[in-house]
Amino acid sequence: MTTRKGTIAAAFSAAATSYESAAEAQRRVADSLIMRLGMPVPVRRVLELGCGTGLLSRRLLAILPEDASLLATDLSPAMIATASASLADPRLGFAVMDAEAPALAESGFDLVISSLAAQWFADLPATLQRLTDLMAPGGRMLIATLGSETFGQWRQAHRNAGEESGIPAYPDAAALAAMLPGSRVDTSAFTLDYADARAFLNSLSALGAATPKPGHRPLPPGRLRRIMAGLGSPCAITWDILTLDYRKDGP
Ligand SMILES: C[S@@+](CC[C@H](N)C(=O)[O-])C[C@H]1O[C@@H](n2cnc3c(N)ncnc32)[C@H](O)[C@@H]1O
Repeated sequence: MTTRKGTIAAAFSAAATSYESAAEAQRRVADSLIMRLGMPVPVRRVLELGCGTGLLSRRLLAILPEDASLLATDLSPAMIATASASLADPRLGFAVMDAEAPALAESGFDLVISSLAAQWFADLPATLQRLTDLMAPGGRMLIATLGSETFGQWRQAHRNAGEESGIPAYPDAAALAAMLPGSRVDTSAFTLDYADARAFLNSLSALGAATPKPGHRPLPPGRLRRIMAGLGSPCAITWDILTLDYRKDGP
C-alpha cells in the first residue's frame, strides 16, 4: 500500500465511529443511487466498493432480491468492522479490499456500485477499466463521486486570500465520462449549510475525509484563520456529485 493510501485508510479507520454523525451528504447520495437503480432490481451478484459504515449497503439490502448476494468491501478494516457489526443479512459478505487492486477469486458481478469512495482512488481511469473485468456480460457499474465544483466556496475563500486549498482537483462530467468509454455521467449538486468554516472542517474530520491532496503543505494557523473568516458564518458549501453509469456489452 502506498503511503498516501495508508494515510487515507488510517483517517477513515479513525473516523469509523463518528462517520455517520456527519454523513448528511453521503446519505443523500446513497438515496439517489437507490432511486437510480429503480425497482425491481434485476441483479443477483453485487459488488460494493468503499462501503464505509454501510450507508449504501443497508439501502441495497432493502431492495435486492432474496436470492441476491452483496459483497461489501472497503480499504479500511475499521469501516468494515463497523459495517459488519450493524448489518446482519444472509445475503451480505464483507471484505477489506483496495478497489484499485481488487483481489477477488470471483467475478461476474451484475452490479458494481460505489458511493463517494472513488474520489480517493489514485488512478481512477485504470481502476474503472479494471473493474469492468469483474462485471458479468450485460452487467452495470454505478459510481457516484465528487465533481469539480465540490467545495467551491472553500476553494474560492483560499483564492481570495492568495492561497491554494488542500482539496484535490476532481473531474467534471466530461472528464469522468472520458475515463471509461461507453459510460454516461450525470451531475447533480446540492449545498449543505454549516455554522462556519470550523464546523465544515470538523465535519470532514468526523467523516475521516480531511486528507489533503498529495503534496499539499498545511497553512500556518494565522493564514488558515483568515481564510476561515472569509468563508462567512453561516456558510453554504456545494457538493457536486457525478454519477457514472456504464453497461458492459452482453445479453
Ligand atoms: C466518504 S466514505 C463513503 C462510504 C460509503 N460508501 C458511504 O456512502 O457512506 C469513503 C470510503 O471509501 C473508502 N476508500 C477510500 N479509498 C478506497 C480504496 N482505494 N478502495 C476501497 N475503499 C476505499 C474509505 O475507507 C471510506 O470508507
